[in-house]
Amino acid sequence: MKVNITETVLRDAQQSLIATRMPFSDFEGILENLDNSGYYSLECWGGATFDSCLRYLDEDPWERLRKIKEVCKKTPLQMLIRGQNILGYKHYPDDVVRLFCRKAAENGMDIFRIFDALNDFRNIEVCIDEVKKCNKHAQGCICYTTSPVHTIEKYVEMGKQLESMGVDSIAIKDMAGICGPQEAYDLVKALKSEVKVPIQFHTHATTGLGPITLVKAVEAGVDTIDCAISTMGGGTSQPATESMNYALKQLGYETDLDEDRLKKTADFFKPVRQKFLDEGRLNPTVLGVRADILKYQVPGGMLSNMIANLTDMHAMDKFDEALAEIPAVRKDMGYPPLVTPLSQMVGNQAVQNVLLGERYKNISKEIKAFLRGEYGKAPGEVNQELIDRCWKPEELVQGRYADTLEPAFEKTKAELGDKARSDEDVLSYIAFPQVAEKFFEAREEKESNTVNYTIEKKED
Ligand code: CO
Repeated sequence: MKVNITETVLRDAQQSLIATRMPFSDFEGILENLDNSGYYSLECWGGATFDSCLRYLDEDPWERLRKIKEVCKKTPLQMLIRGQNILGYKHYPDDVVRLFCRKAAENGMDIFRIFDALNDFRNIEVCIDEVKKCNKHAQGCICYTTSPVHTIEKYVEMGKQLESMGVDSIAIKDMAGICGPQEAYDLVKALKSEVKVPIQFHTHATTGLGPITLVKAVEAGVDTIDCAISTMGGGTSQPATESMNYALKQLGYETDLDEDRLKKTADFFKPVRQKFLDEGRLNPTVLGVRADILKYQVPGGMLSNMIANLTDMHAMDKFDEALAEIPAVRKDMGYPPLVTPLSQMVGNQAVQNVLLGERYKNISKEIKAFLRGEYGKAPGEVNQELIDRCWKPEELVQGRYADTLEPAFEKTKAELGDKARSDEDVLSYIAFPQVAEKFFEAREEKESNTVNYTIEKKED
């Protein structure tokens, strides 16, 4: 049996280890080798990579995509997209979602992994539809979590629903690395018996379970797994590509990976990793095993976020109390999977509840919007008392929230005028307005300097 492997070094690995700070120049030299290594796909784009390019790296994310595609012509490029949220934290109107998918496809994207934080598939249907219209691969996502309402039956139902929506494959997204080997085995087995499309498993090595979980997922018949090259793998990143490849071959599975090329990639990233270690951007603690996450069942990023918030407020003594508050808030919200943006929202509300000494004395703007139904439908029942406290029944969102949004692309394009040089620029602006505007200004300035420099050179 063959197992496909997706390499995440260009997206999730660097996002999980070094907050997505890797410039194009750090990996340009290895793209040709990556393209010839036998990977199923190269994950290279997503909300954080897009944001980080504009915000910190002074790179046009669209140009980065085109440059990767210029070299990687054989291996499909893959991205992570937050359905109706595209790359951000709020819902966008359908015209923007459609044009974004179309432009991503035109610029070189092949596989779109599409997820909604609540697994409310009304929030990914437009995205799936447009990707299909562009003749690209639409991968529907099941965000994995544990709760009294998340059963195998429920996940299988989701899988069937995704298949009926026309997805080309399904990803199980275990963003916190909390899915254990037996859970993975049972889940994949159950899905494989009910759906026909290929299944891909995504996890993190954070809790130390990652490699074992992937092996069991493979034994249950999963088609593709996500790995990260060893020098950028392990810890909060994905299980190491070479080690998984080695183990799978020993267990009698075939992979298309070329071991010499894997070694070349691993060696290539050694100095890159060292640079980030030296700069302090790569903190060695994220490379270790965090078994405490198994106890709390919350993603590592959410824990770090809470620690940072409590430290800022000189309230780290409340950490245990705040952690204990998370399950209560999560229950009130109907057990959402703890993935962006819900992880931050639930974490912040738990901290507030503890610091103010009273539950929901202050309800954050985001939680209010969630209670109104702006994020979609929660998996379980939401605390009705809280909804009533914030909203009148007639104010609640009925149906799909994006249906209430006015088209935004043409209007924004007109407002931007010459600041935007392409439709891609307009989309960057819609996704991250302030950041994109600064980026456009810096680009303008840089170019005028280059022009002056060239003129001066000519005069020499
Ligand atoms: Co991930």
